[in-house]
Parts: sequence; structure tokens; C-alpha cells
Amino acid sequence: MEIDFTPWLNMAIRWLHVITGIAWIGSSFYFVWLDNHLEKPKDPKKGMSGELWSVHGGGFYHNQKYAVAPEALPDNLHWFKWEAYFTWMSGFALMALIYYWGADLFLIDKAKMALNQFEAIAISLVFILGSWVFYDTLCKSALGSKNKLLGILWFGYLTAVAYGLTHIFNDRAAYVHIGVIVGSVMAFNVFMVIIPNQKKVVAALLKGEAPDPALGIKGKQRSLHNNYMTLPVLLMMVSNHYPMTFSNPYNWVILAGLALVGVLIRHYFNVRHKAGTGLALPISAAILFVALIIFAATMEARKRADYADVGASFAEVQAIVGKHCTACHAAVPTHESFDEAPAGLKLDSREMILLKAPLILEQAVNTDIMPLGNETGMTDKERAILGQWIKDNTGK
Ligand code: HEC
Repeated sequence: MEIDFTPWLNMAIRWLHVITGIAWIGSSFYFVWLDNHLEKPKDPKKGMSGELWSVHGGGFYHNQKYAVAPEALPDNLHWFKWEAYFTWMSGFALMALIYYWGADLFLIDKAKMALNQFEAIAISLVFILGSWVFYDTLCKSALGSKNKLLGILWFGYLTAVAYGLTHIFNDRAAYVHIGVIVGSVMAFNVFMVIIPNQKKVVAALLKGEAPDPALGIKGKQRSLHNNYMTLPVLLMMVSNHYPMTFSNPYNWVILAGLALVGVLIRHYFNVRHKAGTGLALPISAAILFVALIIFAATMEARKRADYADVGASFAEVQAIVGKHCTACHAAVPTHESFDEAPAGLKLDSREMILLKAPLILEQAVNTDIMPLGNETGMTDKERAILGQWIKDNTGK
């Protein structure tokens, strides 16, 4: 019996990542919601800035907020940090397993940049850590107090990085990388600012000193930034299921647009309870979403139009599939990474190609997910020929 542990490891880490991610983002949503719904305390204790009553799961809850700190520290204080740390650690492990370990197939796109595994991993790490340094410096600079301007600059920076990475890495890997950059900034915010500041406040209280209110304000700012980044980051993390986004010639524009949709929706939920908040935000988000769909389709069609009149014989198709697919998709693959046909898909006969036509269109014609890593450099024209032949022979 031979066991391939890699997919099991992948599954276990991904499971952990999703669980801890839910716990982290869930608490982030909850605390921002809490802050937005606090009321002036009816019978305030010293230092108490807000209170809230809620009912859940059969009982009533009474929260009280002390904006700077309570007079004395309670015996038992709950911290929220392991959700964030474990989400980051499991996420990083998952990325390393898929995109670093399997760099040749999943990270590198030789048609864009002929990197080796070491170079690709180095570029990935430089972008992840460099982006944190950029963001953190921005927050600590004179611009740090202007949240709106900061948001615009950070968004512009990420869009530029998206443009860069989609021209360096495999498209799918580029999308996930933007997610990793944003997710890492969120986790580092917790690790480097929010928690250390809270520790300083607690230390001051234990010494009987008055804590510096600026510590809490800085932590709150990072926490709010994290809140706006959650919806975009979630989409980036699941984007590999949606090839029509990352395989578009203007994939970086689409990513920026989708991120903006997420920010608008998040903002709506944050300000919804305030008087005068209409439906302008969700309506703008919906319009932007539809505009992105039309934009994506238009750009995709422009790419295809270049090859509108390619004729296609089976001999040509056989040559294309032979060159780009059957090293892996054959009864006995010759590709070093595969002992059997991936996904059980064998493309060594006319019948099989026709039988699997919808899948082939999805993976190798309408998008360029296949051949994996485009190691053989399949061209758009070859994709068009393959697509045309499938259309002629199946009517699809
Ligand atoms: C380097 C190896 C490799 C090459 C070359 C390759 N594929 Fe794949 N293919 C895979 C792997 C691995 C999977 C499974 C992907 C996954 O699970 O992410 C796959 C999955 C697929 C699927 C999805 C099957 C399913 O049931 O979901 C299709 C369709 C496909 N390949 C078509 C092609 C076509 C067409 C070509 C040639 C243009 C090609 N592949 C070239 C490795 C390869």
C-alpha cells in the first residue's frame, strides 16, 4: 500500500485555516459591531465609555466598554490573538505547500518570467514582507492620522502590486499572493501593534500608572483597517475557483474592482445604523460588480477576436494536445510529477477529447489554467484552434 500524504496534509492545513479564519474574522466583525452599537452608559462607572445589552442563545448579555482602561484590572482578562496567529501560520503553511513546494507547476509561469524555484520564493517573500514595511511606515508617518487618504494610498499600492505580480507569476498564484499580502498585514497588525499596545496598557495598570490613551487609539485604527480588508481577502483566498477572474487579460483591474466591492459592502455594514445612511453603498457595489462582469467579458472577447478565423483539423488538435496535454493526461504520463493521469483525465483519443469537451473549454480554451504552469508555453492561437475544433464537432 502506498499513501500519498500530500493531499491529506493539504486538506488538514486548509481545514485548520478555514476554522481559525472564521474564528478570527467572526470576532473582528463582532467587536466592530459592538463598538458601533454602544450607547452612553446609564449608570457609568469611572472610565466607562459605553454599554450595550444583547440577547443570544437563551441569555442576556451586558457589555461595558472602557475606552482607555478600567480603574483596576480584573482577575481574568480574555485576549483575542490566537485566532489571528493560527490563521496566518496555517495560511502560510498552505501557501508554502502548494506554491513553494510546487512552484514549477503552480507559482512560476515561464512564459512571463523564467524563474527558478528559489527565485520565485524569494520574490514572493520580498513582496509579502516589503508590503508590511510599506503599510506600517505609512501608518506611522504624518499621513497615519488621515484614515481616508491612507486607505486610498494602500489600495493604490495593492493595485500596483497586483499589476506587477500578474506579470511575474502564474495568474492564479498572483491572485492568492495579493490575498496573502493583505492577510499578512492583518495578522501583523495584531502581532506587532494591537496586542503589544494592549500589553503596555495592562503593564501600566499593574504598576498603578495611567495608561497612554494613544496606545488604544493606534490599536483601534489597525483593527478598523483589518475590518475593511476582511471581505476582499476572503474573495482572494477562494478566487482560484473562479478562473474567469484571474485568467482575464486585465485580471489585475478585475481584482481591484472586486476588492472595492468588498470594501463598499463592509463600509455599509459599519455605518448602516447611522442616521442618513441610505442604500447608496450597496447599490454602488452592485453596479460596480455588474460593470466588472461586462468589462471582463469585453476584454476576454477582444483577446479571442484576434483568432476569429482559425480553421481547425483534427490533425492540428492532436498535435496541440500531444504537445501540451498528454505528458500528464495519458494512461501512462511521461511528466516527472505524475504517475497517473491527473483527475483521471486521459486525452489520448478523439473520443475522449470530445467527451471531455466542456471541461477542456473551461480549463484550456476560455481560460489558461491548463496546461498546468504552462510549462510548454501554449499560445492563445493554439487555444483558439482547440476551441474552434470543439465547436465544429460538438456545436458548443
Ligand atoms: C503538467 C501536467 C499537466 C498538463 C501538461 C496538463 N494538465 Fe490538465 N490537469 C493537471 C492536473 C494536476 C489537474 C488537476 C488539477 C487540480 O486538481 O488542480 C488537471 C486537470 C485538468 C482538467 C480538469 C479535470 C476535472 O475533472 O476537473 C482538465 C479539463 C484539464 N486538466 C485539461 C488539460 C488540457 C486540455 C491540457 C492541455 C492543453 C492539460 N490539461 C495539460 C495536470 C496537467
